Amino acid sequence: ALVSMRQLLDHAAEHGYGLPAFNVNNLEQVQAIMEAAAECDSPVIMQASAGARRYAGEPFLRHLIDAAVESYPDIPLVMHQDHGQSPAVCMAAIRSGFTSVMMDGSLFEDGKTPSDYDYNVAVSREVVKFAHAIGVTVEAELGCLGSLETGMAGEEDGIGAEGKLDHSALLTDPEQAADFVKQTDCDALAIAIGTSHGAYKFTRKPTGDILSIERIKQIHARIPNTHLVMHGSSSVPQELLAIIRQYGGDMKETYGVPVEEIQTAIKFGVRKINIDTDIRLAMTGAVRKFLFENPSKFDPREFNKPAREAAKFVCKARFEAFGSAGMA
Ligand code: G3H
Ligand code: 13P
Ligand code: NA
Ligand code: ZN
Repeated sequence: ALVSMRQLLDHAAEHGYGLPAFNVNNLEQVQAIMEAAAECDSPVIMQASAGARRYAGEPFLRHLIDAAVESYPDIPLVMHQDHGQSPAVCMAAIRSGFTSVMMDGSLFEDGKTPSDYDYNVAVSREVVKFAHAIGVTVEAELGCLGSLETGMAGEEDGIGAEGKLDHSALLTDPEQAADFVKQTDCDALAIAIGTSHGAYKFTRKPTGDILSIERIKQIHARIPNTHLVMHGSSSVPQELLAIIRQYGGDMKETYGVPVEEIQTAIKFGVRKINIDTDIRLAMTGAVRKFLFENPSKFDPREFNKPAREAAKFVCKARFEAFGSAGMA
């Protein structure tokens, strides 16, 4: 059944686990997530980005997720809008049936320019006001996603600041977070701790200077009752990069957020962990491998099937590692 995100996050906090929030763009991704959740009995958060809405269109995404609810009636499922760039975008998502929205006021409406604090408070508060009136959950963001190594947001074409970011914007300030939550009444807060979107997060296996779990502890100590959200939390498994490279792909050396670091973060109040890239890597590797080994095949069902299996494997591993398995 479709549930509110607040309900799931409260349950996660009460029982000390985290929920992966997977981005979806097409049928096979939705199916992979649901098959994985059914096998390990986990609640599900599916989210649609602005890019997903451009690729598939909101009605297709909404009906795909509705189809998931119909096919798996016993699994609690949240339909979340990821990185809403304005109150109007959030309002439209709510009207079309999303049970949770992110108002990303860390950037102005262009999705590129870091905003000022007062703007962020104002738009986040506005969305909370109309969302809460009808039981919809709101995630807000304070601080800008970006690399502490380079100061860059990381993703070329998606959501993310353009140009070099101030070091102070790359780590959410705990005092400011406390004031922000008080002023906006958001249900969940996305924080900046050195992660960025996409495959190229870190040039080496991250240590505390470039991935600040310490900052999560400080924020959690200040606002223990706020559910924290980690964006840019794909682990970028080396074995998936190896498959892509083995079958003709060109991917440079790169590192993601280790699963063990996320497990520590969950101990300090992180309840929602956003993952898109790992599913992309898994599917791409599987498609490349299949087509390389079967050059005469041309039925998309034949290469989408191993892609779906590979995505499912990633989802199941995250449900298990974050502790949401068995919680449906
Ligand atoms: O928000 C970041 C997600 O990875 C979505 O990326 O805009 O390419 O769909 P996208
Ligand atoms: P990744 O690119 O690390 O998968 O992050 C996705 C995300 O944060 C979506 O909002
Ligand atoms: Na989100
Ligand atoms: Zn994100």
